[in-house]
Amino acid sequence: ALQRTLEGVHVAISAGGTREPLDPVRFLGNRSSGKQGYALARVAAQRGARVTLVAGNTADLSTPAGVDLIRVGSAVELRDVMHKVSADADVVVMAAAVADFRPVTPAGHKIKKTSADPDPITLTKNPDILAELVSARREGQVIVGFAAETGDETTSVLDYGRAKLKRKGCDLLVVNAVGDGKAFEQEDNAGWLLSADGAETPIPHGSKAQLASVVWDAVTARSTDSQ
Ligand code: PMT
Repeated sequence: ALQRTLEGVHVAISAGGTREPLDPVRFLGNRSSGKQGYALARVAAQRGARVTLVAGNTADLSTPAGVDLIRVGSAVELRDVMHKVSADADVVVMAAAVADFRPVTPAGHKIKKTSADPDPITLTKNPDILAELVSARREGQVIVGFAAETGDETTSVLDYGRAKLKRKGCDLLVVNAVGDGKAFEQEDNAGWLLSADGAETPIPHGSKAQLASVVWDAVTARSTDSQ
């Protein structure tokens, strides 16, 4: 039988967008509001989990009751905190929108406006936190990734998601379509839940809390199966 409680389970969830500094006052960022990650945290706490929520930049959201909140800025800070909290977590969910690149050397002072043309911004790769957490996975730990995809002429959102699941090596992957005003900053979401064992579950359009419930049902079903 499907056991829906997360009693005694420690879950670590990332939410929101990273900010990659250009100088002390400027950054490269993205439109993630944190709403999806906070909804995952709220539903997990309601189901009895101990929840550590690691949040980058978010909209003005209230911290769900009973959730431990840790704030971070850049992708590198998020990585350090996720490694620490994951060492003690039974389930890890990466719902944060992590910048793939960061300015290679942020200026130590505010970049001045001059009459000369501005310098180009040189970027370097950020670590792939999800892939690192998969490499460091503890025995029995369940790792859930997200894939924010836009389809194109040749490849659908779902096919990009399938490829990402294989590449990242996580146990579950939520694929959500973005662009055209979808998912980012919205109250609603939709997509698919892909499992490493090949199962593919469509997630009907609904609130971010409803999507979160689908994720926690799948996580709970996995641990019940393996007992
Ligand atoms: O915050 P909201 O406004 O509510 O919007 C929710 C959301 C659209 C941001 C969320 O549902 C979502 O899709 N989050 C993941 C966004 C993302 O970065 O997707 P990606 O396809 O670029 O990355 C794939 C996965 O790898 C994600 O789990 C991401 O957290 C992780 N990643 C990505 C890059 C990186 N350097 N390190 C990572 O760990």
